[in-house]
Amino acid sequence: MAGEKKLYIKTYGCQMNVYDSERMAEALGGSGYAEVSSPEEADMILLNTCHIREKAAEKVYSELGRYKDLKIAKPDLKIGVAGCVAQAEGEEIMRRQPMVDLVVGPQSYHRLPELERRAGGGVKALDTEFPEEDKFEKLTARPKAKRAPAAFLTVQEGCDKFCAFCVVPYTRGAEVSRPVDRIFREAEDLVERGVREITLLGQNVNAYHGEGSDGTWGLARLIRRLAEIDGLKRIRFTTSHPNDMDDDLIAAHGDCEKLMPYLHLPVQSGSDRILKAMNRKHTAAEYIRLIERMREVRPDIALSGDFITGFPGETDADFEDTMALVREVKYASAFSFKYSPRPGTPAAEKGDKMVDPAVATERLYRLQELITAQQREFQNAMVGREVSVLIERAGRMPGQMVGKSEHLHAVYVTDTVAVGDMVRVAITESATNSLGGRVIR
Ligand code: SAH
Ligand code: SF4
Ligand code: F3S
Repeated sequence: MAGEKKLYIKTYGCQMNVYDSERMAEALGGSGYAEVSSPEEADMILLNTCHIREKAAEKVYSELGRYKDLKIAKPDLKIGVAGCVAQAEGEEIMRRQPMVDLVVGPQSYHRLPELERRAGGGVKALDTEFPEEDKFEKLTARPKAKRAPAAFLTVQEGCDKFCAFCVVPYTRGAEVSRPVDRIFREAEDLVERGVREITLLGQNVNAYHGEGSDGTWGLARLIRRLAEIDGLKRIRFTTSHPNDMDDDLIAAHGDCEKLMPYLHLPVQSGSDRILKAMNRKHTAAEYIRLIERMREVRPDIALSGDFITGFPGETDADFEDTMALVREVKYASAFSFKYSPRPGTPAAEKGDKMVDPAVATERLYRLQELITAQQREFQNAMVGREVSVLIERAGRMPGQMVGKSEHLHAVYVTDTVAVGDMVRVAITESATNSLGGRVIR
């Protein structure tokens, strides 16, 4: 299009940021912006940032530093910072990096087009309010462009749990659920545009309690409602808190065919002492019992989790409890992180005795080694089996196509298939991070 302005968005952090970036690109589309894939050609650069660990937050400043020459060469270039660093640091970002024109927090994205108009030419625009309006309602006016077969849909945002280490309750605010009918309409719209698999998103997605046709609905009921959409083949959700896995949601894993056999259920530690200090409000035994119940309704379920090593006060014995829990659960995949003190969180403010960073790192490596071995075992067990695959894109090799299995494994095939096809695949090999096989007609 003639006279079209170019927008470059770089996204850090969780899937929620991926979803938000898509919404922001669409909103700025209404202001005449088209997305491009490199910052060099952009008229506006937007960083959608993450504050969860120190490293994540620091990446933003080093990335901004790289744009200095671009801004000098093109003074009209607008640079914006969105996401959780924007929320946490606000004006401080412009102080540290004066070439930033615009700062917008996650709850103010519906105001982005207006902020964009105001910012630039020395004028700074900032919005980190927590307004009452539903930002998504305002952000849904978008072109009916075709979509990739797997999409994210945010249904719940924010968090009221206040785990001692975590910034999310501060950067995303209180827990808010979107109403059922809006989610349903958005899901229908996605399906019309080619989507076959939807992952429902929330920092605490299983705490979902949205307004339905007859009072408040939980996540299980929302999932069952969405499963009625014909063209929608698969439903997933992430991330869940163990304390919000209610009976209905557990049951849905056994009786809702479109709900995929995969559950990301972070536990953080296997030590009751540390779980208490983290304010997780459950014990290791309660978590294990929950996992058993999941396996009773869905024996082949793939389990995933998150872990933190070196939380203040963690002893060798506490860490051994974590290793024991991992051995007992047997994860299909899991993420583990070294504790990073975050400004404003109870764990950082209390100034409890930090674990020696070298010890925390050593624990992290040991844990990761164990998790990697479990991951391999789970993946290798797929060889010889027949799995269902949703084809998502072309692979790197000519003629190769790649999709995801029900258990979220990447599966490569060389048969003639199209993006969006659901096919049965006989798995013949297991590589480092993917499976390979033959399509069964
Ligand atoms: N809502 C999810 C997780 C959100 S953050 C839950 O309740 O589990 C994703 C993961 O980042 C967390 O599960 C935790 O493992 C990790 N994380 C969060 N804050 C951290 C910190 N300060 N240091 C290290 N890891 C952290
Ligand atoms: Fe953070 Fe805990 Fe909320 Fe998860 S449940 S987002 S870890 S405060
Ligand atoms: Fe990061 Fe914010 Fe997501 S801190 S993990 S981008 S909610």
